[in-house]
Amino acid sequence: MALALVLLPLAAAAQGPEVGRPFAERWCMACHVVERVPPAATADGVPSFPVIAARQTTTQQSLDAFLSTGHTRMPDFSLSRYERNALISYILSLR
Ligand code: HEC
Repeated sequence: MALALVLLPLAAAAQGPEVGRPFAERWCMACHVVERVPPAATADGVPSFPVIAARQTTTQQSLDAFLSTGHTRMPDFSLSRYERNALISYILSLR
């Protein structure tokens, strides 16, 4: 218990790609290619995370806006700010 109290704030402060990656694998991988892979391996019609990351228009803000709103073709995960930031940091790390 004491250990958890010490580790939690640390994890929250990091919110780095290594935090976001397991989230992406758990929630996003069903539709998106979430790893760096050869372009031929991308799923039909759904942009892969490396492709999203490579776009000029993709920023922390654009991803945050996208993940904070509902989408017709993508389920609403009701992500917490923490989960969102971790996922964004993971996606941007694929640049
Ligand atoms: C049920 C399938 C599905 C799942 C699961 C899913 N997505 Fe998506 N996602 C889509 C589709 C389809 C699009 C394309 C949206 C469109 O064209 O309207 C998309 C688009 C996106 C985009 C925007 C790309 C752009 O064009 O700018 C981002 C960012 C994104 N998804 C992130 C995520 C994240 C993060 C998760 C996991 C928390 C996730 N998605 C889970 C289907 C999914």
